[in-house]
Amino acid sequence: MSFDRSIKIAPSILAADFANFGAECAAAEAQGADWIHVDIMDGHFVPNISFGPATCSAIRPHIKGVMDVHLMIAPVDPYIDAFAEAGANILTAHIEAGPHIHRTLQAIRGADMKAGVALNPGTPASAIEGLLDNVDLVCVMTVNPGFGGQKFIDMTAKIKALRAMIGDRPVHIEIDGGVDAKTAPLAAKAGADVLVAGSAVFRGGSVTNPGPYGENIRAIRAAALGTYT
Ligand code: DX5
Ligand code: ZN
Repeated sequence: MSFDRSIKIAPSILAADFANFGAECAAAEAQGADWIHVDIMDGHFVPNISFGPATCSAIRPHIKGVMDVHLMIAPVDPYIDAFAEAGANILTAHIEAGPHIHRTLQAIRGADMKAGVALNPGTPASAIEGLLDNVDLVCVMTVNPGFGGQKFIDMTAKIKALRAMIGDRPVHIEIDGGVDAKTAPLAAKAGADVLVAGSAVFRGGSVTNPGPYGENIRAIRAAALGTYT
């Protein structure tokens, strides 16, 4: 089967109801989410704390598809096994989180997960030139990590450079931060296939009124796909 580069919408549960994660994940999937994006923050690598592997374990049974875990923590390596046990399918580490990203990516694949590498807005595409055969996903941050609801930073040039570098390799390009129906098309046209969106998916709805999640997801997908016509 050929590699799936179709547009995938990955709602970030950072914008969901923290007291109701299981139902929020199920509602997002039922409303058309392709993956569920889970943001892990340590108050050290980024200036905010979210939650950890125990929460991932708790929500795992409520997710039918891909659990896409984005680590904004340093160090990473001591926690890889805990996220594997929690059922993460994709584990993404920041290249800025430590001196040995290659070792970290090997350890993630060694723990039977797909390996992702994330790049802060200030980190150039060239930083991962030597890692393209060691990753399954490159996450291009379109905000400085740490908080949901921030303004999109245009990373079109970086996404295009990565898309050219990746070529035929089976590597996803994900964008994360400030993604909505207005900002998604630029990034999709440049070559991103996984669109993470928190506030733009969860706004206006709830687990008892999940319809708006579906409308929001469809609006982002349609906007992104519209660029291909
Ligand atoms: C930022 C996180 C993002 C964020 C996305 O540090 O990695 O996943 O929650 O949220 P929005 O879509 O609200 O920018
Ligand atoms: Zn994220």
